Amino acid sequence: MKRDFPEGFYWGAATASYQVEGGIDNCDWAEAARAGKVPNAGRVADHYNRYLEDFDIAKTLGHNAHRFSIEWARIEPNEGEFDEAELEHYRQVLQALQARGIEPFITLWHFTLPQWLADKGGFENEQTAELFARYAAKVVASFGDLGAFYSTLNEPNVYATHGYLYGAWPPFKRAKIAWKKIGKEDGTSEKTQALAKFTHFFAYRRVERNLVRAHIAAYKAIKSVSPEAQVSVVKHVHVFDSDGGWVNKKLAAIASYFQTDRYMSRVINYCDLIGLNYYRNTRFGESRNYLRSDMDWKVYPGGIFDALVQLQKFNKPIFVAEAGIADEDDDVRGQYISVQIKAVARALAAGVDVRGHMYWSLLDNYEWALGTTKRFGLVSINYDTLEREIRPSAFVYKDLIEQYSKGKTSA
Ligand code: FCB
Repeated sequence: MKRDFPEGFYWGAATASYQVEGGIDNCDWAEAARAGKVPNAGRVADHYNRYLEDFDIAKTLGHNAHRFSIEWARIEPNEGEFDEAELEHYRQVLQALQARGIEPFITLWHFTLPQWLADKGGFENEQTAELFARYAAKVVASFGDLGAFYSTLNEPNVYATHGYLYGAWPPFKRAKIAWKKIGKEDGTSEKTQALAKFTHFFAYRRVERNLVRAHIAAYKAIKSVSPEAQVSVVKHVHVFDSDGGWVNKKLAAIASYFQTDRYMSRVINYCDLIGLNYYRNTRFGESRNYLRSDMDWKVYPGGIFDALVQLQKFNKPIFVAEAGIADEDDDVRGQYISVQIKAVARALAAGVDVRGHMYWSLLDNYEWALGTTKRFGLVSINYDTLEREIRPSAFVYKDLIEQYSKGKTSA
């Protein structure tokens, strides 16, 4: 009987530097917080100082992999100046993971830019791709054989839309088409008071292009210092499908193309594997009501199957780099994870080459423009005392990991 998950499958959870570390004040998000446009992250979970404790928890929970990101502003606080002490910090982070038998999945950029680079126009600037590649090569060379899996960019499209169409994230450029302002449904576009302009649409297109160039430049730079590194881009796949009818089907196909396939087809020749982030499904023509998460997103964990199948055509191994739910009361998360993992098993049975699954997130964290109010963690954080408390759903995930690692079959 065939196992549901292959031996050596990577099980774990993910975090990102600015969302959990604390104490990062030289990046564009910190600057935006000082200007009162987004909530302040401050020390958040203080993971920068408490990673040992957090990795102990991950180990207790049966994780054998962990995805996290390196903060560019720490490594290169001024253009061309690399901070050896910060490189050493992250080397210790990697060693701490390996000492616990946890495979690191390293992300080089997860939304935040060093302030000096933001001042130069960030990803609107044509030079940024090369600057990113130089930083990436520096990090990979410094880690040596401590890291095997590297992701260049996290969710390039989400970044471009939030920063350059919705005006919800730095650098707060909001676009409009004819008289209609583009905006985010959760109200964050209004909070930043971003000015809507037609020309921002061109900035958005430039950023999209530069995010393709940045991935390719970084891929080549990483491979030149470490040919055996396994390099990926992390792509958010918002699944669009339909309840039938050719108009709805067409809408779903167009949305999928612009949201996922367009970017992927441009970078795929420079990917050894693909990281998938899955959170959302939109079904055109649907009238059913669903349970909603604390993000007010439709609860639809099974959609990860469709996201995986959608990426299958690119013919590269895939790992789930993020998938999870904001659920402060923890009354839905356990079930959510079980359904999600069964859906990953179905994708494997259907022939999709899935190598790992990282739940978002290991810890409660700073959910960007929404601050610390949305709780995605397997582990809850008390932001006053910094106490960690493992949520019951983390043990549901642990049990699943144990059963599947032992070769569980659903047949
Ligand atoms: C993803 C981001 C991650 C987190 C989750 C909820 O889009 O990559 O940082 O905010 O959403």
